[in-house]
Amino acid sequence: ARAWRGLIEEYRDRLPVTEETPVVTLLEGGTPLVPARRVSALTGCEVHLKVEGLNPTGSFKDRGMTMAISKAVEEGAKAVICASTGNTSASAAAYAVRAGLTCAVLVPRGKIAMGKLAQALVHGARLLQVEGSFDDCLEMTRKLSDSYPIALVNSVNPFRLQGQKTAAFEIVDALGDAPDIHCIPVGNAGNISAYWMGYTEYAADGVATKTPQMFGFQASGAAPIVNGAPVTHPHTIATAIRIGNPASWKLAEAARDESGGVIQAVTDRQIAAAYKLLAQEEGVFVELASAASVAGLLQAHEQGLVEPGQRIVCTVTGNGLKDPDWAISGAPAPITIPIDAHAAASALELA
Ligand code: F0G
Repeated sequence: ARAWRGLIEEYRDRLPVTEETPVVTLLEGGTPLVPARRVSALTGCEVHLKVEGLNPTGSFKDRGMTMAISKAVEEGAKAVICASTGNTSASAAAYAVRAGLTCAVLVPRGKIAMGKLAQALVHGARLLQVEGSFDDCLEMTRKLSDSYPIALVNSVNPFRLQGQKTAAFEIVDALGDAPDIHCIPVGNAGNISAYWMGYTEYAADGVATKTPQMFGFQASGAAPIVNGAPVTHPHTIATAIRIGNPASWKLAEAARDESGGVIQAVTDRQIAAAYKLLAQEEGVFVELASAASVAGLLQAHEQGLVEPGQRIVCTVTGNGLKDPDWAISGAPAPITIPIDAHAAASALELA
């Protein structure tokens, strides 16, 4: 076995890079595909979790960012900018440091998880909190990158999706073929589009014999694709996918339709239940938005959309440590005791 070299080196022949491209990497990708015993039992299927929270900055965004930042450097950029619900900004900030670029990020004030804010700040990004939504932030960053010499690294940057498609490659490489169904949260809709690119590319080249049905899940208070219209005031506890007008809307619909899949809404209650199930029955700590994939699978199973015995992958997109506030608020308060083993024994109900 040799060490993982980061996804650009691992999949160089399938990415738009040349020998001249300066590879900016934190050795992202190569994340584990973890069998989900409880979710498998609940659905009668073989379910795996693609644990993207184990990327360098704790989310799948690093896959897109290694490409976007490498290409920005190749094209001579000195500064990059993004709008974010938190994870993109954390990733952009880290990769900008790696590349020696200045990084500016626009986030919706009060609507991003604490860990993500900490990451952007600790990596020295110029962080602006906008009194508006993610969609407002994205519109502003598009204008700024049009008017000033600053490269946009949101997923409207095509290199982002190129990097992110490698997650589908890794899944096929690990399973020996594509799964039957792939479940994934949908926010700005880049990731579902990227996976579909990856799966179709592998199938076209005969690396996989088939492509999966793509099952995308939005939060019910932020479900523009499901509703068929933008949502002006999106709301959900899953702040990462609190998006009312996704940039890759059309690509996501194409992924759904070409794959024979669905894009559905799941409620905050379902998301919170799946978050808890993953933490307490699978031992996998994800952030709320990530749990939408599993919440959605359970819903689709109840609706009869999932044949028993199917092989299914759920992408869990971000690490639970990103949002300690939510984790703590939903858990019982810890008990405080003196330095006394008897007190510990009685608190633990051992005695
Ligand atoms: N899960 C997490 C943890 C995310 O951070 C995001 C998007 C998604 C799912 C949805 O992916 O946008 O490609 O459909 N986060 C972006 C951000 C918007 O700014 O970090 P998508």
